[in-house]
Amino acid sequence: MASLAIQLSEPESKLLQTLVYEQCGMFFDERRAHFLQDRLYRRLRACRLESFYTYYRLLTSREGRTELAALLENLTVNETSFFRNKPQLELFHKTTLDALLRRKQQARDYSLRLWSAGCSTGQEPYTMAMLVCDALSYFMLRNTPVGQHPSPKPLVPPPWRVEIVASDISYSALRSGQDGVYNEQQIEPVDYMYRLRYFDRVGDTYRLKDAVKQVVHFDFHNLKTDYLPQRNDVIFCRNVMIYFDEAEQKRLVEKFYRCLNPGGHLFIGHAETLFGISDKFRMVHLNNGTAYQRNEQEEA
Ligand SMILES: C[S@@+](CC[C@H](N)C(=O)[O-])C[C@H]1O[C@@H](n2cnc3c(N)ncnc32)[C@H](O)[C@@H]1O
Repeated sequence: MASLAIQLSEPESKLLQTLVYEQCGMFFDERRAHFLQDRLYRRLRACRLESFYTYYRLLTSREGRTELAALLENLTVNETSFFRNKPQLELFHKTTLDALLRRKQQARDYSLRLWSAGCSTGQEPYTMAMLVCDALSYFMLRNTPVGQHPSPKPLVPPPWRVEIVASDISYSALRSGQDGVYNEQQIEPVDYMYRLRYFDRVGDTYRLKDAVKQVVHFDFHNLKTDYLPQRNDVIFCRNVMIYFDEAEQKRLVEKFYRCLNPGGHLFIGHAETLFGISDKFRMVHLNNGTAYQRNEQEEA
C-alpha cells in the first residue's frame, strides 16, 4: 500500500515544536525530534488533514483545543512504577517523614500535604500514600500511651489528616490512577506486606483499598502554568524535568520553591539535578537516596 507521504518542512517543524514548548514545557532536541515527528504524523492522519501547516492552524484555533490536548497527551512518556528508586524512598520514609511528623506534632498542626507532580498512572502517589500511612502508624505507636491506640487501626489515625495531590497533563493517565487497579506485572515491585495491607485482590488484578484512594486526589495540572497546588510539605516531581530544557527547569523549580512550606522537601528523578538550576535548595541524603530541602536563608 502506498504511504501517504506528507512532508514536514523545517519551518512547520519549528512552529509546532515552539507551540508544544509554549504549551507544556516539553522540549524536543535532536535526539527526540524523531519521536515528535512520528506523533505529529499520527495526529495529522487522525484529523485527516493535508498539511502540517493546516494542522498547526487547527491547534492554534479555538476549535482546536481538544486536538491540542490530544497531541500533548500523545507526546507524554508515562513510564512509571511502584516504589521507584528505593534508596530515595528510604530517605523519604525514614528521615523526611519522621522529622516532618515530629515538627508538625510540636506545632500541633496535624495536616500533611504532599504533591506528586507528573504522577502518570498513579504508582508514585500511591507509593507515597503507603509510606505516609506506614510512617504515621509507627509514629503513633511510639508516641501514644499504651491503651490509647484505636482499634481497629485506621490508615490515617486521628487527629492526623493527609492529602496527596496527584497531578498530570495526561487525562488517560489520570483516569488510570483514579481507577487504582494494577496487573500482576505492575504490582511486582510491591512487597507482600504492602500488598496485604493496602490492596484487594480482584481476579488477576490488585485494587487499592478505598482508604488509600481517599488520601490521593487526582487532578489535571499543567506544570507550565502558575496555578499549581500550594502549601505542600513535600513535592515529588520525578522524571518529568528531563523532558524540559534548562530555562523551563529553572522556572519550574522556582515555582516548586513557592509551592513548598518553609523547610519543605523536593524529590526529583535519579537522572535529574538542581545543580546549576537553583541555589534555593540544599541537598539532603541517606545512603544513596537524595532529595532537596528548601533553603530558608533565601527568604531573608
Ligand atoms: C516519565 S513519567 C514520570 C512518572 C512518575 N513521576 C515517576 O517518576 O515514576 C512523566 C510524567 O510527566 C507528565 N508531564 C509531562 N509534562 C507535563 C506538564 N507540563 N505538566 C504536568 N505533567 C507533565 C507526563 O504526562 C508523564 O505522566
